[in-house]
Amino acid sequence: MTNPASAATAPVAPNPSLFSNSGTLAGRLTDAFLAVRGETERRAGPLSPEDQMVQSMPDASPTKWHRAHTTWFWEQFLLGQHNPGYVPFHPDYAFLFNSYYVSAGPRYVRAQRGHITRPGAEEVTAYRRHVDAAVVKFFHDAGDKMLARLAPLVEAGLNHEQQHQELMLTDILHAFAQNPISPAYDGSWRFPTPNAGVGGWITLNQGIHTIGHQSDSFHFDNEKPAHRALVGPVKLARNLVTNANWLAFMDDGGYRTATLWLMDGFAAATNEEWEAPGYWHKTGDGWQVMTLAGLRPIDRDAPVCHVSYYEADAFARWSGKHLPTEMEWEVAARAGQLDDAFGLVWQWTRSSYSPYPGYCAIEGALGEYNGKFMVNQFVLRGSSLATPEGHSRITYRNFFYPHHRWQFTGLRLADYGA
Ligand SMILES: [Fe+2]
Repeated sequence: MTNPASAATAPVAPNPSLFSNSGTLAGRLTDAFLAVRGETERRAGPLSPEDQMVQSMPDASPTKWHRAHTTWFWEQFLLGQHNPGYVPFHPDYAFLFNSYYVSAGPRYVRAQRGHITRPGAEEVTAYRRHVDAAVVKFFHDAGDKMLARLAPLVEAGLNHEQQHQELMLTDILHAFAQNPISPAYDGSWRFPTPNAGVGGWITLNQGIHTIGHQSDSFHFDNEKPAHRALVGPVKLARNLVTNANWLAFMDDGGYRTATLWLMDGFAAATNEEWEAPGYWHKTGDGWQVMTLAGLRPIDRDAPVCHVSYYEADAFARWSGKHLPTEMEWEVAARAGQLDDAFGLVWQWTRSSYSPYPGYCAIEGALGEYNGKFMVNQFVLRGSSLATPEGHSRITYRNFFYPHHRWQFTGLRLADYGA
């Protein structure tokens, strides 16, 4: 997404590379780098220094921290390791802005990132400008041989920053949702329009399919090795579950019917007093939802959003259906059978986030990127309205814990009936 204020259409098409096909390698790396770095700042643009330092829960990070952490990533993994003589901008920033890389040294406690009042937002801007200039100079001085070797690292850094761009929106939405006056991140923002389509069910091509990333174009290590999997017989819903569908579940007592829920899920729903998706508020005028544009009436035709895996699973059971596996989702998406696969909401699958057969984390600190999280989480497929343009792939594996619902998460159903 390049402009959330005008994000009225979907979907975002999968794009295998952030680099253009023309110009020198240094020029292509510079263009892609500056475009992605600029998008981070554009997303932070509507936010005041006070907005930028709020951490509304341990899972969400302050905007200022996202801006600084993505900058540290370039210092730590590109400049620090491949640009001899580079001196870090500030000796304390590696401790403050390392996220979870044990191999990269000690780091500040994650749940207290909102305590970091200094450096201020303007100092983080100066930090970003310093590192931007150093990286661009490095691209132009390094020579094609070294750049060719480092291009995959650069592309990983760009994709890393794009992941944080999505988190910047989900995290500030959570922060604003705690504010009684329901601030708007962007008053002109609108939920992307889903594909009206023909609806109904699509029948998957039953058989043994190759799952996972099959080329050398950019991918995260968790998308490989490509491997074979038996898929079907199964039908998948062409469309996403809508708010109208969800209201029917609520009206039928879905949140109060224990037999529809996993035990952990019903405990979460009870303890957290869930009676509707995240950010929904019951008002005298009916249900409203906190959005990037502030509080808005529920759009019955829009995909349901901000539901946890537990809720998605309960809804599927209430519907007499199931959640698809990630393999089924991938086969259907590859065949072009799914409407709104990308650009609206991430779609929960019932596949646990586990390594593909033969998976090995990559060597070095970046091996901590994905592999160490492969337990107790579930895979989501597709992409959301907050996913940056050029960041989506059919083989992309997003993952969150089953109680999480501050991301832009929804679902589509699977049917294993005759
Ligand atoms: Fe990160």
